[in-house]
Amino acid sequence: MSAESLAPAPELLHLRAAGAALVLDLSGDTLPRVLHWGPDLGELSAAHLHALRQASLRQPIGFSIDQPVEVSVLPEQSAGWLGTPGLVGNRGGADFSSAFRVAGSELVADERGAGDRPGTLVVHARDTAAALGLTLTIELTPEGLVRQRAAVTNLADTAFAVDAVNLTLPVPPAAVELLDFTGHHLRERSPQRSAFTQGLRVRENRTGRTGFDAAYLLAAGTQGFGNRGGDVWAVHTAWSGNHRTFAERTFHSVALLGSGELLLSGEVLLGPGESYSTPWLYGAYGRGLDEVSARFHRHLRARPYHPSSPRPVVVNTWEAVYFDQDLDRLKRLADTAAAVGAERFVLDDGWFGARRDDRRALGDWYVSDEVWPEGLGPLTDHVTALGMQFGLWVEPEMINEDSDLARAHPDWIMATGARLPGAARNQQVLDLARPEAYAYILRRLDDLLTTYPISYLKWDHNRDLVEAGHQPSGRAGVHDQTLAVYRLLDELRSLHPGVEIESCSSGGGRVDLGILERTDRVWVSDCIDALERQQIQRWTNVLVPLELMGTHVGSPVSHTTGRSHPLDFRAGTALFGHFGIEWDLTSATPEDLERLTQWVALYKELRPLLHSGTSVHGDHADPAYQVHGVVAEDGSEAIYALVARGTSELYPTGLVRLPGLDPDTVYRVRPQAPGDVPDGNAHHWGMHLPWWTEEGVTLPGSVLSEAGVQAPTLYPERLVLVRATRA
Ligand code: DGJ
Repeated sequence: MSAESLAPAPELLHLRAAGAALVLDLSGDTLPRVLHWGPDLGELSAAHLHALRQASLRQPIGFSIDQPVEVSVLPEQSAGWLGTPGLVGNRGGADFSSAFRVAGSELVADERGAGDRPGTLVVHARDTAAALGLTLTIELTPEGLVRQRAAVTNLADTAFAVDAVNLTLPVPPAAVELLDFTGHHLRERSPQRSAFTQGLRVRENRTGRTGFDAAYLLAAGTQGFGNRGGDVWAVHTAWSGNHRTFAERTFHSVALLGSGELLLSGEVLLGPGESYSTPWLYGAYGRGLDEVSARFHRHLRARPYHPSSPRPVVVNTWEAVYFDQDLDRLKRLADTAAAVGAERFVLDDGWFGARRDDRRALGDWYVSDEVWPEGLGPLTDHVTALGMQFGLWVEPEMINEDSDLARAHPDWIMATGARLPGAARNQQVLDLARPEAYAYILRRLDDLLTTYPISYLKWDHNRDLVEAGHQPSGRAGVHDQTLAVYRLLDELRSLHPGVEIESCSSGGGRVDLGILERTDRVWVSDCIDALERQQIQRWTNVLVPLELMGTHVGSPVSHTTGRSHPLDFRAGTALFGHFGIEWDLTSATPEDLERLTQWVALYKELRPLLHSGTSVHGDHADPAYQVHGVVAEDGSEAIYALVARGTSELYPTGLVRLPGLDPDTVYRVRPQAPGDVPDGNAHHWGMHLPWWTEEGVTLPGSVLSEAGVQAPTLYPERLVLVRATRA
């Protein structure tokens, strides 16, 4: 961040953006307290801000400390807070509790400049007794997202051990319900709801990656909040290593959402003058989850490095051929892919060293002589001659014990020192914090990117970090590893600026805003069963916009669930994302190829809308029926999927609202081909499209979004697309 100072911060700082507001109390020398985080409060005079502070001052209570408890963004016991501390650490056993005093606060311009915004708040504080410095950075982005981070500096000449630095944002008493996420391989980002009662709900992730079961987004809201309604306050920890996200409510009428990196014992020991920085804690307030998501999506889209070219149709070889890499077979796949309209061909695992299965060779990043006697050139030439980009799979952070690399450098494997961690998918973790290992990997990747016309890397990461220490010391190394991976990605991107990178981690095990600062899309899940994907994609999209979500059409029978789905359901599901195909197209029927070509064409026609519009999700009462779509930012058009996930209690399905349309615009609404056919012989069983679909219907957005239209009654596990265009 540029440190251009704009002004000293006022005592009461009122930040407003995109219908959200943050009011910070910077009076006195204690750390900043949030007086309000939520909906915009309108213009407030200095007198009103002072009155707001008076009105929200907490009174002391019996048999507690005599001063009102002050809860800052980095809560401290010294200010009377007895919940989760902001800073946990010690200097040789002492200085366990901090008492930071603010030395100065300023408003500075960030990398996007300040425009007409007041700027980013930077607070400099010091705990003289503990000899610690603290810098807090707090911002309300133009999209109305709050983000904050902290840096702690050791000002003494002895070491200070940092165990945790937690940042928080308060939510009002009306936030009584929590939503967060869990999951596992093939079922990422599964929602779970609970009451926000007194106590601490802490979601810890110790997998050394973001994790399948990460909290992802932790939202607190008013009773029954949904996609379109209720007040919601949500936080996200932008970190791809161990982390903690929590919700805490105390009897003092304090309710907080917070987060921090989860540091392993001894992991951060600050020498004299050294600093530790936290990940960004993001917070979004919205009326309904869709508004929360829109803030994240707009923020990501405003980044200067956000992918701006049309997201190419991908063909990935994994579920098509697995490890059976054969030039002729892959050329035939590429020919068929190009014929249906694919634009990027990605060669997955199995092209290097002795990698003929998943038991060996990670680390040996040299093209296999056995499988590719002439190198990858014949394939890359063929692919590029067909007009497609070429992409390559890599897994740079990993090493097999059965590899030339591990035989040459056994000490490059992350371990406690005394023993190797148990293998996972037959592999271990390469210690990238070791300069020689880092340099080797950077060289290998740089060499591949220089030798071949590779425009895309699928960057995989297929195991948890277990007992991940540095050899020979045995010190815990997840923190260092996370930073080293970030550094490696940054360095590679600056060496090869045009190359796009996908974050894959056994599917969607590394999806967070930290990794997305240096990658161009995430692989949502290894499960491409369209029924499962409806859920996984819906909830991945709560944070990540569609253009950053890899969504593929799989084979007629899903490889991970055994379910069969017709092509229209598979393709209509993959449409809402960065579309791709992961299916041995050389075995597809001519009818399927013809239909797939139509779907690819529709994706190409719709991608400007899908990848710039607002994602919307209905609150349909029937859980078997799901409505989601994308509305253009200017409200001129929209595309919806009406999805029957199962059989319904209702017959016919009844009215369905098309959310997010401009109430004052009149739209013509029609089913959209090729996703407009409910199913072959469904009509024999009374499953019809409603009457209005024959001619389409013309109605104002207010009617479509508030009253709705009759929904088609569908077979389970089917969908119909509906398009709305300004009449
Ligand atoms: C796990 C990924 O999620 C898959 O898509 C595939 O790339 C395999 N790894 C390859 O080993």
